[in-house]
Amino acid sequence: MKTNDQLDHLKKLRAEARLGGGQKRIDKQHEKGVMTARERIDLLLDKGSFEEFDMFKSHRCRDFGMETQVFPGDGVVTGHGTVNGRIVYVFAQDFTVLGGSLSETFAEKICKIMDLAMKNGAPVIGLNDSGGARIQEGIESLAGYSEIFQRNVMASGVVPQISAIFGPCAGGAVYSPALTDFVIMVQNQSYMFLTGPKVVKSVTFEDVTTEALGGAAMHASRSGVSDYAATSGADAIEYIRKMLSYLPQNNMENPPCIPCADPRNRDSVELNSILPDNNNAAYDMKEIILQTIDDRDFFEVKESFAPNLIVGFARYNGMSVGIVANQPLHLSGVLDIDSSVKGARFVRFCDCFNIPVVTFVDVPGFLPGTAQEYGGVIRNGAKILYAFAEATIPKVTVITRKAYGGAYCVMSSKHLRGDINYAWPSAEIAVMGATGAVGVLYGREAKKAENPAAFLKEKEKEYQDTVANPYVAAQRGYIDDIIEPARTRVRIIRALELLQNKRDTNPMKKHGNIPL
Ligand code: HXC
Repeated sequence: MKTNDQLDHLKKLRAEARLGGGQKRIDKQHEKGVMTARERIDLLLDKGSFEEFDMFKSHRCRDFGMETQVFPGDGVVTGHGTVNGRIVYVFAQDFTVLGGSLSETFAEKICKIMDLAMKNGAPVIGLNDSGGARIQEGIESLAGYSEIFQRNVMASGVVPQISAIFGPCAGGAVYSPALTDFVIMVQNQSYMFLTGPKVVKSVTFEDVTTEALGGAAMHASRSGVSDYAATSGADAIEYIRKMLSYLPQNNMENPPCIPCADPRNRDSVELNSILPDNNNAAYDMKEIILQTIDDRDFFEVKESFAPNLIVGFARYNGMSVGIVANQPLHLSGVLDIDSSVKGARFVRFCDCFNIPVVTFVDVPGFLPGTAQEYGGVIRNGAKILYAFAEATIPKVTVITRKAYGGAYCVMSSKHLRGDINYAWPSAEIAVMGATGAVGVLYGREAKKAENPAAFLKEKEKEYQDTVANPYVAAQRGYIDDIIEPARTRVRIIRALELLQNKRDTNPMKKHGNIPL
């Protein structure tokens, strides 16, 4: 029958398209121990949910013998499917077709799904593995990249955009992932750089390996380009699936709230004695986070970059939140350039997508020194201040210990529209620490004292009792309540429930001018 022939023909064409650059090249991917584009999509999406677009679309280039190198789909697999039952749009670059290089057609396919994602309000997930601009197409390819960049910017703050890098990502091609909300890389498999080791050698005479110049470990710990260095392609995909569970589909929705088995009123008695006796000694802020959130399940972002500030997603009684916390285990939890930028970007993401932020504060101030000043700690520190101040999402703050100076103001204080601000009885809210303050106030007097050390010690105690405690701030109403540490979970949950219908606005403007 004619219909059967037609169906057979369609099936044959589909099978051909599914082979991308051919079985040999697929085998080569597998020999390298990496998945193909389609295998990545299958792992990302719920089973059987993928619907593909433009499977037969191919390039129009007729230069450099390209008329003989036409592959249906042209090196990128695009479409939509579901992750845990919720729609996402996805593109996966297929390295088996001309190295996953980007042509005009390839870009059109990505733009199509980005446009649909914007129209329909669903996240875009990009699975990248590409040799960059398709050299045979020249300017058409550059135009294609630019069209994608423009859409990345328009989609920013409207739908979540997540990029995973599974292989090469070089030259200007890095800027599409860089414009998205999160970048996930795979250790010893993916790399991102503007110029590769050979060009680096010829220009700066540096000898550097691909991994050291642009590998996952470097970007996750030093440059901050990557949010997670996955141990494998499958781990990267699992990370994306889990991340999506905390996010709304778009900026008009609230994040999902899921049933929670962890008791709402659970006390953590351990928290009453978690702080060390010496108030300059370190402790692990992550343990405080884990004790208060649902099921100790914390989804950390940028774990290895600026570890003096912790950011990530968690839930309180099923409600999705972003967590921002100083980490006394690293650099005593100071704010510096990297941690300020890390915190600012995370808070702004949460604000874009209506995700409340819970902030845990133990910060001795901003890091002093020429490296910080020359690096622009003023300009960069202003970013986290700006981010908290402009954010209109529910903001709940818990000061566990130090909240000194400018860093007190910055860390979601009442003055930056913090909604509910709690302090533990151990909190020290002051312009600076006791030693520094007493040195300034009583330095000259101490020199004249019979026993300067004892004199300063006594003055430090006086300062501690008078100023460095939560009660002065509580008297002013800058702290809404001083809470028992064990009750932190339930107090945060009540605060979040109270703020569920919060509405706050910023003045009408084209956009603000965050210090960049
Ligand atoms: C066309 C490309 C290609 C490209 C790779 N291929 N990159 N074809 N344009 N950019 C093809 C190869 O010819 C080969 O085809 C196949 O893909 C696999 O490539 P191999 O080199 O065999 O693979 P491998 O050894 O793994 O090396 C991967 C690679 C290397 C490191 C990515 O291919 C490479 O250096 N490519 C060029 C990268 C580059 O300079 N791109 C332009 C960057 S500038 P066959 O037929 O043999 O399978 C840029 C500007 C963007 O991207 C600007 C945006 C604003």
